[in-house]
Amino acid sequence: MKTTITTLKKLSTQALKKTLKLKMPIAFPTETVYGLGAPYDDEEAIFNVFVLKGRPLNNPLIVHVSSIEMIHSLVESIHPDAVLLMETFFPGPLTLIMKKSNYVSALVTANQDTVGIRMPNHKVALELITRIGKPLVAPSANISGRPSGTEAMDVYEDFQGKIPYIIDGETSDVGIESTIVDTTREPFVILRPGAITREMIEKVLKKPLATTINNEIIAPGMIHPHYEPNHPLTILRGNDEHIIFYVNQKKDALFIGHERFLPFIDIQKLSLGQDIKEMTRYLYHVLRQSNHMDIKEIYTHEIDHEGYMNRLLKASKNQIIDV
Ligand code: TXA
Ligand code: MG
Repeated sequence: MKTTITTLKKLSTQALKKTLKLKMPIAFPTETVYGLGAPYDDEEAIFNVFVLKGRPLNNPLIVHVSSIEMIHSLVESIHPDAVLLMETFFPGPLTLIMKKSNYVSALVTANQDTVGIRMPNHKVALELITRIGKPLVAPSANISGRPSGTEAMDVYEDFQGKIPYIIDGETSDVGIESTIVDTTREPFVILRPGAITREMIEKVLKKPLATTINNEIIAPGMIHPHYEPNHPLTILRGNDEHIIFYVNQKKDALFIGHERFLPFIDIQKLSLGQDIKEMTRYLYHVLRQSNHMDIKEIYTHEIDHEGYMNRLLKASKNQIIDV
């Protein structure tokens, strides 16, 4: 199958209809990461999403909507505090877990009685959902285990020859997946950290979220291996001078990190940017770039951001050393 990277404007209604008829998923951009979308009520197309990604069937999918009205048929009820979060953060990088209605298939929710709902803050994603006229389930557009795709070319790398269309919407602004909040527990709890932080959510709710000890309550998908580059990644913890000294001894390695380190690094190096926003935006893409480099290992440093560190720790298989 030929895989075409196109824009939503250029994708004809006929091509879109044909793709849906063939039960093939469509890759599309969101502000967090690219998604691999299928209509929420088309089990065959959804099954193809699982197969193409190599995703275990026990890992539920998030349902993406382009309007608040679309949510009502998907859920049984909405907690008043969830309404507050929707008013503040939708559209945006937040997924809310709610009690599902009978219209949502068990394939989407992996047999759970809850469903994850998200309204992406990306013009192309919203337009695509509106054009199809119904919610789209979409996991991140990557082969399971690999870093999520944040550019059309990243998605092409994983799904070339396997899906007909990748809709290009430029680099995803946020770069890591949405924050997931379970609104079926009292108090609400974060299942996956992201760009919308605990502090931001607690400020809106005017009450604390549940605290989890050692993150024992997490989204089902978070137990699977994730975001792994081809070469082993190690996180260094220490002051800048110690990190620079340590890294410069490692001749076959790549250093990835904040821009401030780069002038002092003598080995191969890639910048992740100048601030936390840029670092989350480019993390997955830089990890993917490292796969093509002639190196034996990768080093980076820790930063003070829960969502970023959550992904970095997974990518490194918790390999962190003090220097
Ligand atoms: O930013 C995002 O959320 C991206 C873009 C494409 O929207 N999507 C995404 O999907 O990250 P995925 O499938 O890669 O990750 C979804 C996560 C998994 O960890 C899954 O276990 C969890 O959401 N999840 C989905 N439905 C759930 C539910 N009903 N209860 C608990 N966790 C759920
Ligand atoms: Mg994913």
